[in-house]
Amino acid sequence: MNPLPLERFSVSAPIGIFDSGLGGLSILSAIRALLPDESLYFCADSRYAPYGEREVEFIVQRAFALSAWLLEQSAKALVVACNTATAQVIEALRARFAVPVVGVEPGIKPAAALSVSRVAGVLATASTLHSQRFRQLLAAHGRDCQFILQPGYGLVEAIERGDLDSPGLLKLLERYLTPMLAAGADTLALGCTHYSFLTAVILKISGKQMQLIDTATAVARQVARVLDMHNRRAPANATPRLCFYSTGDGQPQQRLLPALLGIHAQVECVRIPNIPSHTDAVFTKPVAS
Ligand code: DGL
Repeated sequence: MNPLPLERFSVSAPIGIFDSGLGGLSILSAIRALLPDESLYFCADSRYAPYGEREVEFIVQRAFALSAWLLEQSAKALVVACNTATAQVIEALRARFAVPVVGVEPGIKPAAALSVSRVAGVLATASTLHSQRFRQLLAAHGRDCQFILQPGYGLVEAIERGDLDSPGLLKLLERYLTPMLAAGADTLALGCTHYSFLTAVILKISGKQMQLIDTATAVARQVARVLDMHNRRAPANATPRLCFYSTGDGQPQQRLLPALLGIHAQVECVRIPNIPSHTDAVFTKPVAS
């Protein structure tokens, strides 16, 4: 495929954001706070959530399909609001698509910088923790800090059900956090965008012992940087559109949007089939400025 030149994308085109499910809304929220004039299209791949224990090839296929679909909706930039997909496929997406692609990674660098006890935890999906990209991140920025890595089995499923604080969820989190706390961890990197919505219940367990590192704001800053770099910022007087899509029935998103983000919005159900891996299709559609 020949990438289309960036100039063909309107500055008022939306930023396309996707995740396996609701977690990416934490990234959307940070982008919206920093870039209020930007239109944001968010797609939750709820039909296939969670990604965290899926085969790598499956995650790659879904990330390509969602990216292509968002580009068909004229997205001028893509945000992979999913640590798991970022870990497995971000470089391939950047190589394939013409628009800037921003991802999200666990905050190993800030955790290593901030930890006083030099023991920190990382709560992320099994797929993220086993990825080569995460291992490299840890080797490059983990410095002299001991990192305790914990897969968050069952947490994404709970959040997708709308469970942010049930006794069962509290128990599950206690199981994951108690060994870290016992080892003296004073910092916890939230390595899955879903886990942002568990901040209150995590702090209930850790009390003041742990500070939480969430990279959503850093991602939003990076989105601003790449838009500036390509001169693609929406004008200050723009009327931003906020659109929500789901490959599932849209119900969890519809239900949780007011609670999570204070937004009442319709969630449109869409079908996004996998795309053949060697297709030569053009995934981009320019819109008028
Ligand atoms: N929210 C995603 C992440 O940041 C995906 C979690 C999942 O689907 O398992 O990793």
